[in-house]
Amino acid sequence: MRRLENKVAIVTGSGSGIGKEIATAYAKEGAKVIIADFAEEAMNQTVSELTDDGHEAMGVKVNVAVSAEVDQMVDKAIERFGRVDILVNNAGVGDNMQAAANVKDDTWDRVININLNGVMYAMRKVIPHFQENGRGTIVNMASITGLTGGRGGLAYTAVKHAVVGMTKNVASHYGPENIRCNAIAPAQVQTGFSASMDNVDTFGMEAATRGTNLMPRAGTVGDIANIALFFASEESAYVNGVTLAADAGWSAY
Ligand SMILES: NC(=O)c1ccc[n+]([C@@H]2O[C@H](COP(=O)([O-])OP(=O)(O)OC[C@H]3O[C@@H](n4cnc5c(N)ncnc54)[C@H](O)[C@@H]3O)[C@@H](O)[C@H]2O)c1
Repeated sequence: MRRLENKVAIVTGSGSGIGKEIATAYAKEGAKVIIADFAEEAMNQTVSELTDDGHEAMGVKVNVAVSAEVDQMVDKAIERFGRVDILVNNAGVGDNMQAAANVKDDTWDRVININLNGVMYAMRKVIPHFQENGRGTIVNMASITGLTGGRGGLAYTAVKHAVVGMTKNVASHYGPENIRCNAIAPAQVQTGFSASMDNVDTFGMEAATRGTNLMPRAGTVGDIANIALFFASEESAYVNGVTLAADAGWSAY
């Protein structure tokens, strides 16, 4: 029996990067996966790759910053597969490393809307469904910036700290109903994420990358997907409210 046999998993931001790897890992372990992304081409490509390999996958175009679209994402998953067992809140954007004195209002709003509000919208929608089913698992993608102070810009650091807090809050409130909520805090992972930043704040970047020479290595998407698989599966049945640093010990120094 595979680790996620017949489970239904929504993975946001799974058209590329870490989310794509998580969705693929889940599918290989028997899950039916919802590829939820606002980049339609990448989303369709991921769905094709998975279905060509014999997995069950459905694409849902969604901007997680829009509450009604997030609601529809969950509704469509239930309509197609009958239920949702796993939610991975992975979609996220960077803040161009803007330090406190250099924060632009539009960057602040975008990061809050996507990385923070998006996570709340999805949890708010799926939890009542999990309660009806008597179980469910949420995996939130935090960041090492959610556990440390100086590794990102202000907005990104703020929202990832908030994700860590929301993870504990949900675990604490709904754990007694067999609902688990854990988070992953990666340091640096090779994806298109940093390339998507533009007009990077030089001061913020210099400050945030001090000490990166102490990081043994960057992570791979596979390193992160392995953790997401553990959190989604019954192997982590006794783990709730945890944010696991995935940084090769960097933040332990
Ligand atoms: N790459 C890293 O070094 C790193 C480190 C720590 C945490 N993270 C976190 O991991 C998550 C995934 O990052 P990644 O490196 O795979 O990035 P990525 O840019 O490679 O992929 C992000 C995906 O999310 C999608 N997305 C972005 N905004 C969206 C929105 N509003 N609605 C729906 N989809 C949206 C994008 O289209 C893309 O497919 C993010 O939450 C990020 O903050 C990344």
